[in-house]
Amino acid sequence: MADSSTRDILVTSALPYANGSLHLGHLLEMVQTDMWVRFQKSRGHRCHYVCADDAHGTAIMLTAEKLGITPEEQIKRVQAEHEKDTAGFLIGFDNYYSTHSPENRAWSEEIYRRLRANGHIATRAITQAFDPEKELFLADRFIKGTCPKCKTPDQYGDNCEACGATYTPADLIDPVSALSGATPVDRESEHYFFTLPAFSDMLKEWTGSGTLQPQIANKLREWLDAGLQEWDISRDAPYFGFEIPDAPGKYFYVWLDAPIGYMASFQNYCERAGLDFDSYWQKNSQAELYHFIGKDIINFHGLFWPAMLHSAGLRTPTAIYAHGFLTVNGTKMSKSRGTFIKASTYLEHLDAEYLRYYFAAKLSASVDDIDLNLEDFVQRVNADVVGKVVNIASRCAGFLRKGFDNTLTPNCAEPELVQSFIEAGQDIAALYEGREFNKAIREIVALADRANQYIDEKKPWVLAKEEGSEAEVHAVCSVGINLFRVLMTYLKPVLPAMAEKSEAFLNHSLDWTALEAPLCDHRLEKFKPLITRIDPKQIEAMVEASREQAPATAEAAAKTAASSPQPAAEPAGEEDNTIAFEDFAKVDLRVAEIVAADHVEGADKLLRLTLSLGDGQRQVFAGIKAAYAPENLVGKLTVMVANLAPRKMRFGVSEGMVLAAGPGGKDIFLLEPHAGARPGMQVK
Ligand code: MSP
Ligand code: ZN
Repeated sequence: MADSSTRDILVTSALPYANGSLHLGHLLEMVQTDMWVRFQKSRGHRCHYVCADDAHGTAIMLTAEKLGITPEEQIKRVQAEHEKDTAGFLIGFDNYYSTHSPENRAWSEEIYRRLRANGHIATRAITQAFDPEKELFLADRFIKGTCPKCKTPDQYGDNCEACGATYTPADLIDPVSALSGATPVDRESEHYFFTLPAFSDMLKEWTGSGTLQPQIANKLREWLDAGLQEWDISRDAPYFGFEIPDAPGKYFYVWLDAPIGYMASFQNYCERAGLDFDSYWQKNSQAELYHFIGKDIINFHGLFWPAMLHSAGLRTPTAIYAHGFLTVNGTKMSKSRGTFIKASTYLEHLDAEYLRYYFAAKLSASVDDIDLNLEDFVQRVNADVVGKVVNIASRCAGFLRKGFDNTLTPNCAEPELVQSFIEAGQDIAALYEGREFNKAIREIVALADRANQYIDEKKPWVLAKEEGSEAEVHAVCSVGINLFRVLMTYLKPVLPAMAEKSEAFLNHSLDWTALEAPLCDHRLEKFKPLITRIDPKQIEAMVEASREQAPATAEAAAKTAASSPQPAAEPAGEEDNTIAFEDFAKVDLRVAEIVAADHVEGADKLLRLTLSLGDGQRQVFAGIKAAYAPENLVGKLTVMVANLAPRKMRFGVSEGMVLAAGPGGKDIFLLEPHAGARPGMQVK
């Protein structure tokens, strides 16, 4: 199909921060993008998919410092991990690069110079909080203090988690640097600004051009109507990033060079693949450019980025495709519930294609959040993929191999049925094109139902036992395999590994563009199982492993730290830490006496505690070895959660949880025994 209708398409997913592991939320975006790209490729278009790690910023610098490594070492490690995880989820990037690259430095400098030459860079001094100990300027997120409204201590510089008030760090009572604990001082420094208001008309036109999702266009229009402000694009040293040309000690703010990273990754790819980079990025380019992003970063992609490109004399994106956030079992991903699932943890327990299928079944073109309901996930994948699609092939393959030399009939017995499956591809293609993956899946599953119905009606297993029905068995099973072939062609963007196995079995490539006629007089290969059912135990194990890992992400902090003239669409908080009062009321807190404490062989942090609740004893494993020698614990009282479900750990069953206070390590404090407290007493 490489004719004049062949399109040149460049597609990106947002660049993950090189500061932490990928989780299933990141994967939602990458799977969505990957399915769309694979679809375009299967339709014969020249489609290129690039991404990269977003390597710059204060958060990454601080993480490296904490780990005692250089930022370069840190981003290298994380990139290797990200590449491994994305490969595991079958994300078919044409290039995965880093924003800390020579191409990105060159383009960032070049674009900046063009903006400056056009009079779109302004400078002025601003006063900011400065940490005199660490000697760096503090973003709001790195300042803590007492809430000016409700007086809760230890609140971040931009909002109070207790009462929800929003304010500036200057309003905090007794502010301290979250990095060093020092009292911040005001310091003035020169900053560089991109004059965004100059692009108000240009952006109004771009936003109204009709290619954006309505929800995004509305959001952008709201911001445009409220009036734009200049965008601060510089940060003072020390900063991990690119130094601004002719401005020693000033660095590009991470969000300036991040989207330019799309160009840099593509350029790096073009050199390898022999593509003409300029023809994709020059003004009036005929190529299409799409950015798949989450709803939290619409302002960067819908305002700053097109304005920068416009000023620099480059093309603007054809469209931005934003998706909602991933929730698990109806709520934000939560470490305590074990639903903050890292990509690598998932892959240790489950096949990537299960999740790819589930995401496809849920994703639409809207910005609505997507829920991964773990029960529904198991049920749906098992019923649809295993029970319906694979079932078609496995029901027919055996008969063909045993009785018919594994070869399909010379003519198709049901040309109309097969043809109707092929024709349904028109609608399914339109749904894929419009990112209505859920509707495409619905159509495909409906076809699978029809295929199974056909086989059920013909009952080849009954015919096979009847004298003289061989030809019919052969005909029915050949039709079944042909229907399976069409279905797997439509599912190939979603299930690329299963499609590959099917191609081996069918001895035929599953190209959408090669679907004109049924396969006849065609020899198959041996049928091997394509995918197995999900065992709910795998889910339990994954949730359990996620609960224990509790990965720390600096990404949320990094994002909020990113001061921008426009609010993000919605806060990007990854974790919901609140519990309902009813949940709290269920917690049975009791005073317990530690009657024995023992080392646990092979555990660095754990002690095995035997606790007396007055009416009986419990065994609990507690991570307090660094703080207490076992002999010092005996006789001490503690508060325990007495009705916690027993939990199997590597070393044995833990029958509760001990509560203690402190920052951790050596500093964990239990209550001292008190005459009035006795084991078993309820804690109020
Ligand atoms: N580095 C920036 C993007 C720069 S693009 C030039 C960033 N990184 S991120 O790691 O925080 O997020 C990467 C992408 O993952 C974003 O599109 C973000 O919306 C998406 N997601 C992060 N958590 C998510 C969910 N829980 N659910 C769905 N998508 C989420 O932002
Ligand atoms: Zn408050």
